[in-house]
Amino acid sequence: MSGRAAHIIVVGNEKGGCGKTTVSMHLAVGLLRLGFKVGCIDLDHRQQSLGRYFSNRRAWMERSGIDLPTPTMVVMQPSNAELKAQAAAQEKAGLEGLLGHLARQCDFVVIDCPGSDVALARHAHVHADTLITPINDSLLDLDLLGRLDPVSWQLQAGGVYSNLVWELRKERRAAHRSGIDWLVTRSRLSALSDRNKQKMAEILPRMSKILGFRLADGFGERVIYRYLFLWGLTVLDMEQAGIDLGGGKSNQAARQEVISLLRSLWLPKVNERLDRL
Ligand SMILES: Nc1ncnc2c1ncn2[C@@H]1O[C@H](COP(=O)(O)OP(=O)(O)O)[C@@H](O)[C@H]1O
Ligand SMILES: [Mg+2]
Repeated sequence: MSGRAAHIIVVGNEKGGCGKTTVSMHLAVGLLRLGFKVGCIDLDHRQQSLGRYFSNRRAWMERSGIDLPTPTMVVMQPSNAELKAQAAAQEKAGLEGLLGHLARQCDFVVIDCPGSDVALARHAHVHADTLITPINDSLLDLDLLGRLDPVSWQLQAGGVYSNLVWELRKERRAAHRSGIDWLVTRSRLSALSDRNKQKMAEILPRMSKILGFRLADGFGERVIYRYLFLWGLTVLDMEQAGIDLGGGKSNQAARQEVISLLRSLWLPKVNERLDRL
């Protein structure tokens, strides 16, 4: 135990399929490749995608004999207490204990949330130093952040997720006396320009000022983000893994997108190492 306290990054949104796990995987590997010790918690105990991804990585390492940087990976298990309140209390205590343990061992803890509002995910948000919310580039997904007037395009009210973040920020301030740096990223951006994409680009900066989040560049729609899952690799591992999949320009762009996300954390200890990638 080194006594250090990790920076906690929660990747959350109540929407499924918006790229939370993809962002968690790439962020964790990016931080590992910068030389940080990283702990990962998968709160989606049903799908366990982040946990599966890192066990695929370990299996690939065994097959290839190549040592890749890996995090301490924990998949949270649900409590089997019969009473709902008792189960929630047990799960909360379990997460507290785990976070306390990982925070002493690691520089960063990355928590991947499920795409629904569950007590454990709420609780994780209260611990977030940084919250990253990927959203699909769609007005339907934007509705979770804020309700828009269809004529004036003005923000009429907060959406369900931003209202939740508002509540949890208050709870965090009371519990930890510090805020949550909230980053929203647009996922799976298409290379083509269309009406929807332009509107999103117009609306999001206005929304960010009112709802209190920062906007960061997200990941474009690229094969490399989805193709490597079974091997537990990312575009940042290709060189060490000795794999050349072709697709040079797109892969180079993906690499830059991951670096850009790391830079968007606005953490000096990260930025000063980015030239390692
Ligand atoms: N930038 C991207 N380019 C291509 N496919 C992506 C990208 N981001 C996510 N995907 C794919 O979209 C689907 C949902 O992503 P996932 O990370 O599992 O979302 P979530 O964890 O929010 O449910 C997966 O099939 C994933 O491989
Ligand atoms: Mg997921």
